Amino acid sequence: MTDAIIQTTGLTKNFKKTRAVDALDLTIGSGELFGLVGPDGAGKTTSLRLLAGLLTLSEGEATVAGYDLRRQSESIKKEIGYMAQQFSLYAELSVLENLQFFAEIYDVPREMIAERTEKLLQFARLTEFKDRRAAHLSGGMQKKLALACTLIHEPKLLLLDEPTTGVDPISRREFWDILTNLHLNGTTIIVSTPYMDEADRCSRVGLIYAGKLVICDTPRQIKKELPGEMVEFLTNEWKAAKTLVEKMPGVLETQTYGEALHLLVDNGEQRLAQISEALTTNGINFRGARVAPVRMEEAFISLIQRLEE
Ligand SMILES: Nc1ncnc2c1ncn2[C@@H]1O[C@H](COP(=O)(O)OP(=O)(O)O)[C@@H](O)[C@H]1O
Ligand SMILES: [Mg+2]
Repeated sequence: MTDAIIQTTGLTKNFKKTRAVDALDLTIGSGELFGLVGPDGAGKTTSLRLLAGLLTLSEGEATVAGYDLRRQSESIKKEIGYMAQQFSLYAELSVLENLQFFAEIYDVPREMIAERTEKLLQFARLTEFKDRRAAHLSGGMQKKLALACTLIHEPKLLLLDEPTTGVDPISRREFWDILTNLHLNGTTIIVSTPYMDEADRCSRVGLIYAGKLVICDTPRQIKKELPGEMVEFLTNEWKAAKTLVEKMPGVLETQTYGEALHLLVDNGEQRLAQISEALTTNGINFRGARVAPVRMEEAFISLIQRLEE
């Protein structure tokens, strides 16, 4: 890995009764697009707020952008762009005015503001909306404007907390295209998301669960960690199918997605044949039986299910 821009050892945050972040050991290299994935309440926001220097650590050590998190959090704040889960734009200000406002907060030199805002408007594809009030933007456009405001001081490290939550799928994709461009330009990005499919767009992913980093690797490697292979059957009798197959030998887990029944099995080809036969014998109609590629979501759900056992 290239030089680390973030390094934490035993990073912990306790709230009164909750250990929101539990001994996080995390090393993130310069230039990574790192996804912090986990369900609600897992500790994503707390982790990002710690890294942004907005919360005091309960235990552990961390350096961010070369500064010590305990002693130099003010210096860290100048190096990073932090987009909160509930990022507040100024509803009554226009798109352009919001950008100008954040430029002033971050001490962007006066003579650079016009050029910077122009560039970000284009980048976020908001140029034609620059005079519209923030309150009158769609949810997706508000997120893009929030990101643009976070970028106004050209930070080398971005901490984005669920920037796509509640946004429609098309805007979500567009937002990720923007993130990918930033990544290609060398910005280090840490982005949290509850959408497990988004993890596939990251160079590396950490799954956080109950405050703990459960796994941290490339999406490809995380999928390989699954203890078996996926087979898929399409059926509109998935309830009966599920009941029948989940007790069969070699079937490790079952997950359903609409009419798709996904089974984690020890041996794909072998079990595919046996299960197809059992379904047929029991008069359960199905089609599209195949050994299917593992989805990120399945890898994570499987991991979480195993943790909960
Ligand atoms: N300010 C706070 N006071 C007390 N508990 C908190 C506070 N912030 C977060 N928590 C708790 O810490 C845990 C992690 O929360 P959070 O970091 O917001 O998770 P996520 O962002 O993954 O949804 C949750 O149990 C949450 O209730
Ligand atoms: Mg959160």
